[in-house]
Amino acid sequence: MHILGINSAYHEPSACITRDGAIVAAVEEERFNRVRHGKPSLINNPHHLPVESIRYCLAAASISPAQLDHIGFSFNPPKRLAKNVRIREKVNPGDWGSKEGEQLFHDLLMSNPERLSHLLNEDITGKFKWIDHHLCHAASTFFVSPFDNAAILTTDGIGEFTSTWMGHGHGNRLTRLWERGYPHSVGFLWTKMSRFLGFGEYGQWKVMGLGGYGDPNRFMKPMHKVVHYAPDGNYWVNKRYMQFRLDSHSEFEKLFGPCRGADAPIEDWHADLAATLQSMTNSIVLGLERRLHRLTGAQNLCRAGGVALNCVTNAFLEEHGPFKRTFVMPAPNDGGTSVGACYYIWNHLLGKPRGYVLDSALLGPSCDDKAVELILKKQQAVFNRIEHPEQLAARLVADGNVVAWYQGRMEFGPRALGDRSILADPRRADMPFVLNTKVKHREHFRPFAASVLEEAAGHWFDIPRPSLSNRFMLYAYPVKAEKMGLIPAVTHIDGTCRIQCVSLDENPSYYGLIEEFGRLTGIPMVLNTSFNETEPIICSPEEALNTCRRGGIDHLVIGHFWVRFKGAHKRAAQVYNSGGSKRPLRDLVVGAVQSQTAPKHHHLLDGIDYESRRQLTRARRELPVDPDKVTLERFLLSRR
Ligand SMILES: [Fe+2]
Repeated sequence: MHILGINSAYHEPSACITRDGAIVAAVEEERFNRVRHGKPSLINNPHHLPVESIRYCLAAASISPAQLDHIGFSFNPPKRLAKNVRIREKVNPGDWGSKEGEQLFHDLLMSNPERLSHLLNEDITGKFKWIDHHLCHAASTFFVSPFDNAAILTTDGIGEFTSTWMGHGHGNRLTRLWERGYPHSVGFLWTKMSRFLGFGEYGQWKVMGLGGYGDPNRFMKPMHKVVHYAPDGNYWVNKRYMQFRLDSHSEFEKLFGPCRGADAPIEDWHADLAATLQSMTNSIVLGLERRLHRLTGAQNLCRAGGVALNCVTNAFLEEHGPFKRTFVMPAPNDGGTSVGACYYIWNHLLGKPRGYVLDSALLGPSCDDKAVELILKKQQAVFNRIEHPEQLAARLVADGNVVAWYQGRMEFGPRALGDRSILADPRRADMPFVLNTKVKHREHFRPFAASVLEEAAGHWFDIPRPSLSNRFMLYAYPVKAEKMGLIPAVTHIDGTCRIQCVSLDENPSYYGLIEEFGRLTGIPMVLNTSFNETEPIICSPEEALNTCRRGGIDHLVIGHFWVRFKGAHKRAAQVYNSGGSKRPLRDLVVGAVQSQTAPKHHHLLDGIDYESRRQLTRARRELPVDPDKVTLERFLLSRR
């Protein structure tokens, strides 16, 4: 039996196809249309179906549209229409929350079965099922989890109306227990704050990274005017301050300060505000987990929804949450709801037994060596065929190169997990500077993740308990104090590192690379950042070549081929190490302070007793002078 799941209501349009309860393929449309998040979340585009994703899924399953048995869509249009126009708040005419806007959104959604029939040249209207958005989030994580019995928590911006959903999963059944609806939304709180801090609609990652530098207490009092939460796990968002459906930030400005423009400098109070939001989010979700634990008495927890991408909160919950074991699927954002649509039909509606565990996110398109070679020749690339790509790539990384790594099937979900990744040496202090400026073209303060051998992870990071989800780069764990100075490129200012545990059974090629790197250097991990510049993660070999050719990357290892480029990163590294650039605070902390590769900065640490990066951050907050004029370097020198 084949089931096709589709998401297109808001953003991250995606498709998934299952055969007899096992995923054959899952992919997000952004990888094909090259638009980040697939499309903007607009009132007039829920009918923009993930056309290429659907075509890919059918091709991967080698079936025609007529062979589809069921099609699940991860949204329930009538349910949304019934509730959203009843909220008394200021809205933009014709947009979200307005009567005419919501009617338009509903009508466009309702046209999707006919549109899909037209697209597939097959009448599928009789097979089409609308499924509640949060049921899809819940199904996307519980039915593919290793648990037969688990509590389920889904938290996002908004589904039809729900923003937080609690339930219980038993075998092939889901039971709803509690819901919280708009405007009480943790997800939207982050969206609003991202806009306010100048990072736009999808800058939540930046807010999360920036929070590591800030004081989580500075804005707690005014923040409590925006959000109130109770010990029993409930929470309320004050819509007067949020103004979510308006572009205005006037109420936030009264509480916190002026709204930051996209190109304006990032000041300390921005980091403090981000840190406050992060701290508050940890507390809210912890409260929700405790409520859910009381309701279910379950030992296991499955989570999904965009908030489950917050790796700081996730790690906090692993340490403080009431559940013994947790599972978060690799695409907990809306992209993952296409998976949930399939499994809600397969398990809950059809009553089929469980039998599939999502233990790998490598579910997307691939390109074999023959096709790669043709493309390389067509693109006039200079390349060699190699026998052992893992060994070569490991050596190149150990020698200080920036290496693009393209192998096997593309990852499903927002993280590059070692098949479409850019790799670098985690020991090199200059790497964050090099990658942020020359390859990723993004803010200096953003941290980099590490891919570590599964067996070695516990020796390097404080991981409270094992979880299958550690494979999906969803947790930022503290680096062990004695190891911190060894991996400056992947240690964030707060002493944590977002990690991906790599297992031999899931990805033998990537595992082999890291194993070889560990043999060469004694460090069983590599820096892993997604293979892209500012666009979505690359999908095709052509996109891989184009990204490399734009500069900063020295080598591409693609299948069994090695392509070399004139890397701009070495020039950037020279600038960094000569001190000729204005080094951002993060580089000074992560790089110069404890690095083995920037010995000239070691003197900065002399006489300063730091047990961890957290203490360093706290010490910085004690500065009695204008924070805008203080560099860490000056501070450290003043302490000597
Ligand atoms: Fe969602």
